Amino acid sequence: MAKVTPPKITEFNLLPGEVIADKYEIVSFLGGGWEGEVYKIRELVTNIDRTAKLFYPKRNLNNRTITQYAKKLHRLQNCDIIIHYHTTETLIFNGVPITVLISEYVEGELLSDHIKKHRGKKLPTFQAVHLLHALATGISSVHQAGEYHGDLHDNNIIVQRLGLTYQLKLLDLYHHGRTTRENRDNDVCEMIGVFYEALGGQKAYSGHSKVIKNICCGLKRSLINKKFRRAIDLCDHLESLDWSSL
Ligand SMILES: Nc1ncnc2c1ncn2[C@@H]1O[C@H](COP(=O)(O)OP(=O)(O)O)[C@@H](O)[C@H]1O
Ligand SMILES: [Mg+2]
Repeated sequence: MAKVTPPKITEFNLLPGEVIADKYEIVSFLGGGWEGEVYKIRELVTNIDRTAKLFYPKRNLNNRTITQYAKKLHRLQNCDIIIHYHTTETLIFNGVPITVLISEYVEGELLSDHIKKHRGKKLPTFQAVHLLHALATGISSVHQAGEYHGDLHDNNIIVQRLGLTYQLKLLDLYHHGRTTRENRDNDVCEMIGVFYEALGGQKAYSGHSKVIKNICCGLKRSLINKKFRRAIDLCDHLESLDWSSL
């Protein structure tokens, strides 16, 4: 059978004001990467803001990527920390049908931007511990729902509100196959990686307290996964910390 070559589209470059799928107006470009491009859009009838993720055809053969992402989001619809999936739409781009994933639009700021605003481009320790606790609580609910995130880093985390504690939303879940112990362990390591980077990364590591180093375990995966077998173990550990030792 002849091999199907996906159409070569390497950018969409949609402009504010353009209408897609006869339903939504492009408000602004939010980001783009290896998989495709993400836009803030406004539903014409309701004026409600949403997010549209457009995948490049070669990253979404037979709609496989978009289907896996949508199903993952749908299974996690009761997890507060995960963005809500709405629907898919099709738009014709240069004569090629492109399936678009529509999800809620999350107000807030990217964790990477939030961290940069702080002195020395790193979070104070208390704040970082609260961040990790919010993350571990949310990921624990994702694991309890039988899923995993698969790509946790500071550009896939939106800080929705910072009150006494952090309120976060996670996006851009990655499908590495079915949920396994390894996938869950990887989430735990990535959460600690986010914490480590939020505290200034390698440059600041030697100056941290023992309590912080006990959590980061020098970023050694085997040590992290032995100490925190589940995300909830990380929550328990943080809840039992002696604040005076931070
Ligand atoms: N639901 C959303 N609400 C608000 N901003 C979003 C949303 N989804 C994505 N973004 C923004 O778009 C960027 C890229 O989206 P993402 O799904 O992470 O795509 P990529 O595959 O390019 O990393 C994110 O880092 C974030 O800034
Ligand atoms: Mg991303």
